Amino acid sequence: MKVFVAGGAGYIGSHTVYELLRAGHEVVVYDNLSTGRREAVHPDARFYEGDILDRARIVEVLEAERETGAVAVALHFAAKLIVPESVTHPLAYYHNNVEGVRQMLAGLVEAGVKHVVFSSTAAVYGEPQHGECREGDYTLPINPYGETKLAAERMIRWVGAAHGLTSCVFRYFNVAGADASLEIGLDKDQLTHLVPLIMQTALGQRDTLSIFGNDYDTPDGTCIRDYIHVTDLARAHVLGAEHIVNRQEDLLLNLGSGKGYSVKEVVDAAEELFSFAYEYTERRPGDPAKLIANIQKAREQLGWRPELGLRDILQSDYAYRKKLLCG
Ligand code: UFG
Repeated sequence: MKVFVAGGAGYIGSHTVYELLRAGHEVVVYDNLSTGRREAVHPDARFYEGDILDRARIVEVLEAERETGAVAVALHFAAKLIVPESVTHPLAYYHNNVEGVRQMLAGLVEAGVKHVVFSSTAAVYGEPQHGECREGDYTLPINPYGETKLAAERMIRWVGAAHGLTSCVFRYFNVAGADASLEIGLDKDQLTHLVPLIMQTALGQRDTLSIFGNDYDTPDGTCIRDYIHVTDLARAHVLGAEHIVNRQEDLLLNLGSGKGYSVKEVVDAAEELFSFAYEYTERRPGDPAKLIANIQKAREQLGWRPELGLRDILQSDYAYRKKLLCG
């Protein structure tokens, strides 16, 4: 089937494009290249430059594509996603992550596309009481990033009900790692996530890794997160897109590994592979102590399961970053 991927030049979008092509689908990438890279778009995908806020351009692309077969499903990755930035620039987040979704949905409705897959986040859960999140749990975001994603989730449901649009909403946990080809990976200028920062330290691009806080209510005092390999996550998108097109049924699914690792455990696992220096520093504002996905629903409804573990995540991110460094 033909798949429209908004944000297909970015980190998760580009990996999903690779998996869609591997599964035999035809892919159309739409991206404004503000944070994505043209080289990250697989050569077998058709690329259109355009902004998620530009409804007319989205419709123009969908209409142009109709000549060779209509787009069956649209995937939305074109979002801003840095939590601290959302706290300091909430208006930019509402503009891009809420108004951008509104424009894309309007474009899909106008062009007659009936299925949409949307990237949401574990940040919609806020500070969950027990640490393990189920899709039916209460949502109470503690930052504008989570708020904008939750608002978009709800908009998609209402618009879907009114205009006959089927949706698959995925709530991501901590995504990391790189494609086995090492052609694509996470290579933003501003890295804030734990795994790439460990790798930059191991590769000598930073002196020391800071572990933000060791006084949380967890066994070793550091925060617990659920790390999922980007390729496992991308594979779930292929299954989710196929599912909503074939079964016409809405989905809301967590995507994680279902396992929690503390920051110290991630550091220990990385130390078995590479050497680097680390130190404990103050807590980072806004970090919940524990976030783990319950992935029962994704297993049951998609027949999906994560195949890659923490070691694969660490090794692939290291290999990709080393390749970047060596040019
Ligand atoms: N951490 C460190 N040192 C660092 C970087 C991170 O100790 O240099 C810690 C953080 O404090 C946190 C853990 O490592 O405890 C993971 O932090 P990341 O920045 O890698 O990821 P987050 O858990 O903050 O964010 C992820 C996603 C968000 C999503 C959020 C849900 O990237 O998009 O989970 O809480 F919103």
